[in-house]
Amino acid sequence: MPVITFANTKGGAGKTTAVLLLSTELARKGYRVTVLDADPQHWISHWHEISGTVPNLNVIDFVTTTSLPQHIAENKHNTDYFIVDLPGIRSPVLASAIGLSDHVLIPVQGCAMDARGGAHVLEMLQYLEEKAKIVIPHSVVLTRVNSMVTTRALLIVKGLLAQRNVPVLDTAIIERSAFRDIFDCGGTLHTMDPTRVSNLDKARENALCFAEEIMRKVPVRLPMPMVNQGRSLLSAA
Ligand SMILES: Nc1ncnc2c1ncn2[C@@H]1O[C@H](COP(=O)(O)OP(=O)(O)OP(=O)(O)O)[C@@H](O)[C@H]1O
Ligand SMILES: [Mg+2]
Repeated sequence: MPVITFANTKGGAGKTTAVLLLSTELARKGYRVTVLDADPQHWISHWHEISGTVPNLNVIDFVTTTSLPQHIAENKHNTDYFIVDLPGIRSPVLASAIGLSDHVLIPVQGCAMDARGGAHVLEMLQYLEEKAKIVIPHSVVLTRVNSMVTTRALLIVKGLLAQRNVPVLDTAIIERSAFRDIFDCGGTLHTMDPTRVSNLDKARENALCFAEEIMRKVPVRLPMPMVNQGRSLLSAA
């Protein structure tokens, strides 16, 4: 059960939005997802409260540096993916979450030139590698990217990341009203009404591509149903 952490010490980079998109898409695919909410604004917990039951998805609120490893240990048998949402400031929970992660995703706004919060997380990962020889796989995910034009700001951000050899996901998260509205309506992109939300089909496609790229990067094997296990044992004999 891999742990995926979204980290950027700059507020508003798109962490919680990306957490919501990834967790709902993975849950929709049948994975059991536990979201660990360490964001002091509790947006994901609030969304979960107004959404009612979302199959395969559980959210744990008020996660702290000390409770984080405990939640992972207690839920590892009922979880395929843990997803951690962190505060948009420098805080002690950042270091503990990074240390427990199988992959760190760093959302960086493609529409803003300020990538300093992302750079801080990258420096922490580099420090861990150089000083403690702990290598934690990580990638930047570009967020709030304009669907129509490639802006100058986006090219600058991409150029800076390439210069530093930072891995960047192929799928960027596009600026979409559906990704904002979902926090007010609750539910998922698939329970939203396409007649009321513009470009909902494109938003769904974007979220799916994003989740599938992460599933390829951080794979987990679903337990095989008993009948298939029996068949594969027989065919192996
Ligand atoms: N792809 C997107 N399309 C449209 N709106 C977005 C998108 N990503 C983020 N937003 C909006 O930008 C704002 C900040 O996003 P979000 O809360 O996801 O960032 P955050 O990194 O979690 O912030 P914080 O550091 O404060 O926790 C929110 O109002 C959110 O609705
Ligand atoms: Mg947040």
